[in-house]
Amino acid sequence: MDAFVYKGDAVRGEQWRALFAEEAPDIDFRLWPETGDPAEVRWLASWQAPSELIAEFPNLEALFSLGAGVDQFNLVQLPEQVSLVRLVDPGIIAGIVEYAIFAVLALHRDIPRYLQDQREGVWRERKLTPAAERRVGVLGLGELGRAVLEALGPFGFKLHGWSRSAKTLDGVECFCGEGGLDALLARADILVCLLPLTPDTRGIINREAFAKLPAGARLVNLGRGGHVVQDDLLAALDEGRVSAAVLDVASPEPLPPGHPFYSDPRIILTPHIAAMTHPQSAARVVIANLRRAQAGLPFEGLVPLDRGY
Ligand code: NAP
Ligand code: GLV
Repeated sequence: MDAFVYKGDAVRGEQWRALFAEEAPDIDFRLWPETGDPAEVRWLASWQAPSELIAEFPNLEALFSLGAGVDQFNLVQLPEQVSLVRLVDPGIIAGIVEYAIFAVLALHRDIPRYLQDQREGVWRERKLTPAAERRVGVLGLGELGRAVLEALGPFGFKLHGWSRSAKTLDGVECFCGEGGLDALLARADILVCLLPLTPDTRGIINREAFAKLPAGARLVNLGRGGHVVQDDLLAALDEGRVSAAVLDVASPEPLPPGHPFYSDPRIILTPHIAAMTHPQSAARVVIANLRRAQAGLPFEGLVPLDRGY
């Protein structure tokens, strides 16, 4: 029998176990650390997988990330025969879309400023910019960036996007490659980061990038904390280059007590909750992928290791 090991928290693990029992009873589901004979394990699902864990399973064929991102894995240390598969999960996409819409609308409608006014007991109207005059720029046109742009469409914003390879999306002006980044930044009144964290994208939202944004631009970071140079963001806020930010991710996570992001009224900070991996949705995605493997088909979400995302 093919064995599958889930390594995550025990409560979710039991939910995964129940779903496997119902929908894939032919697959031998094992909840770490009760992994049985390690030689029987073909598949492992985990948020993180240090090399000692992978080494426990000599016949491992695939490692499934329990998230959309794979930057938490050490790609260099992955044995050659192990495929890395990220989660392309409708549940994660829905969570990100919900959060991105909240964040873009909150920044578009100056909510951080109004919250500050409220705390100070001030009743003050501010000029309202119509959505048609506001440009939203999305970094990353993958599963998540594309879904966010599609959901933003009906609000009437001017939409722009940036990716590594060239893309054509209805209603979105697309830019690509290093040469296209400046054009995107110059058009981003609201900049949304939905990039994967790789050596090429680490620190990409830095002092130079802030200087290329329209004055008073706003930032939404839904990628990883490492995309933003946090001290540069604070400087850009102080200089007025950036007027407000919604950050779901930070570096490190959790941010240490007393970090300036906690108390800065220009920042709305949440603890990496924009999208959560729900067993109901994620386990079904993984089961569908195991069926593909059993049928000799390639995995959906297979990560090319040389690309890193
Ligand atoms: P994806 O489908 O792999 O898409 C990644 C996009 O980024 C692609 O459009 C890719 O370009 C682009 N990209 C990668 N490197 C680039 C570079 N050097 N220059 C320009 N564009 C580049 O990933 P996804 O599923 O949309 O997820 C994106 C990220 O969201 C994840 O990696 C994770 O970090 C983050 N995330 C956060 C949360 C949260 O709760 N906050 C939840 C889930 C995911 P190409 O199209 O040309 O390949
Ligand atoms: C969460 O951040 C994910 O990568 O799914």
